[in-house]
Amino acid sequence: MDRTLAIMKPDCVQKKLVGKVVDKILENGFNILGLKMIRLSEAQAKAFYDVHEGKPFYDELVDFMTEGPVVVASLEKENAVAAWRELMGATNPTEADEGTLRKLFADNVGRNIVHGSDATETAKREISFFFSETELI
Ligand code: CDP
Ligand code: MG
Repeated sequence: MDRTLAIMKPDCVQKKLVGKVVDKILENGFNILGLKMIRLSEAQAKAFYDVHEGKPFYDELVDFMTEGPVVVASLEKENAVAAWRELMGATNPTEADEGTLRKLFADNVGRNIVHGSDATETAKREISFFFSETELI
């Protein structure tokens, strides 16, 4: 089974959608290996999104991700990376398929409710960014 990292972003927590998103995760057959609420520091947000450093949206993204708590989750499923990205929907909610989390709940391309790893290698790095092995059940 494969793993991926999900983040319920600050807008998800502020809009009280964490329960609904967790329901969707479980309804769609993912196992939750780890789950916790944390407040990212600026240094953590910058490091987590370092692949986007220099892009026009980077500073705004770091501000957004640090404006309030997030819920991070390690998910397990066959093809977890692709399966979670399918449930999230396209980055821009205007392009997201019906029924996806971003179509249902996101305000715009920046404030888009959830994060998902983009590849299995990235998922390994991102899971270990937030969880030690002993925290993954
Ligand atoms: O999150 P995802 O992998 O779908 O998209 P990304 O291209 O890796 O971008 C990371 C995050 O940056 C997005 O989820 C958005 O929150 C933000 N972003 C943005 O604000 N404006 C863009 N044009 C692209 C991304
Ligand atoms: Mg990405």
